[in-house]
Amino acid sequence: MTDLFDFHAPPKLYAVMGNPVAHSKSPQIHTLFATQCGIRIDYRAIQVDLGGFEQAVSNFQASGGQGLNVTVPFKLEAWKLATERSARAERAGAVNTLKFSRQGERFGDNTDGVGLVRDMVQNLNRPVCAANLLIVGAGGAVRGVLGPLLAEQPKLLVVANRTIDRAAGLADLFAHDGHIQVCGLPDLAGQSFDIVINATAAGLSGEVPELPDGLFTADALGYDLMYADEPTAFMRWAKDHGATHAVDGLGMLVEQAAESFFIWHDRKPETAPVIATLRQVT
Ligand code: ATR
Repeated sequence: MTDLFDFHAPPKLYAVMGNPVAHSKSPQIHTLFATQCGIRIDYRAIQVDLGGFEQAVSNFQASGGQGLNVTVPFKLEAWKLATERSARAERAGAVNTLKFSRQGERFGDNTDGVGLVRDMVQNLNRPVCAANLLIVGAGGAVRGVLGPLLAEQPKLLVVANRTIDRAAGLADLFAHDGHIQVCGLPDLAGQSFDIVINATAAGLSGEVPELPDGLFTADALGYDLMYADEPTAFMRWAKDHGATHAVDGLGMLVEQAAESFFIWHDRKPETAPVIATLRQVT
């Protein structure tokens, strides 16, 4: 009898670690996936003190934990703690998924980029390969998604950042994956794009990066990596400035979770009903 059908076995233990983490939707998402697939899991949200991540991971492994999602601000530490990493995690320089072996090894992966691409291509029907794409921001979040976006071979990929040197650094880092044009925010005047992704931290304080008018082509999409119960500041700005559609990062969140679920359980859950459930709740 496999674990899958052994209802007497204790549920397998998983968690998301972050700071803060109380707002995380990952426990709900993974529990919905597990129910769908008939797998028994116990998925927790664990708040970890800054400086306490390594110890928290060791404790979790010692208590039988089989895998972790890692969120802000521990993705870089998770990358360092991994004893083996996927190629995409290596390029991203950050790990959001850890899988533990019985021998105590820690496999690290990064599912953020694949989650973003699947949300755009499959859920929103926006083929990245056919798009002129603008990413605003050049921090860790952008590094995490550039590899999978470039793998789709967009017609044009521009990374614009307030501090242009950071964008240039990313273009160098990913030079072997594809061409990235870089510029500062004011340099965007006169250019327009099919998809504009906001990957800045401006939304954390309810702000929108200072962007010129006329950024959106006809039928363009504004995509905010952040998600919130209400339309985000960037979504509102995008609609007011010519985007036909504006979405937040909830779809990406569910898709990256589905990829983590696959890494742990070797099963691909249906994401559409889970996204619909979360949209109803929020
Ligand atoms: P993350 O891991 O979320 O990407 P980060 O590495 O601190 O966080 O990067 C934050 C990004 O948001 C950067 O691109 C930052 O621009 P700078 O590199 O110029 O600092 C961008 N950012 C934050 N606040 C912003 C604002 N008010 N307007 C424009 N860009 C902003």
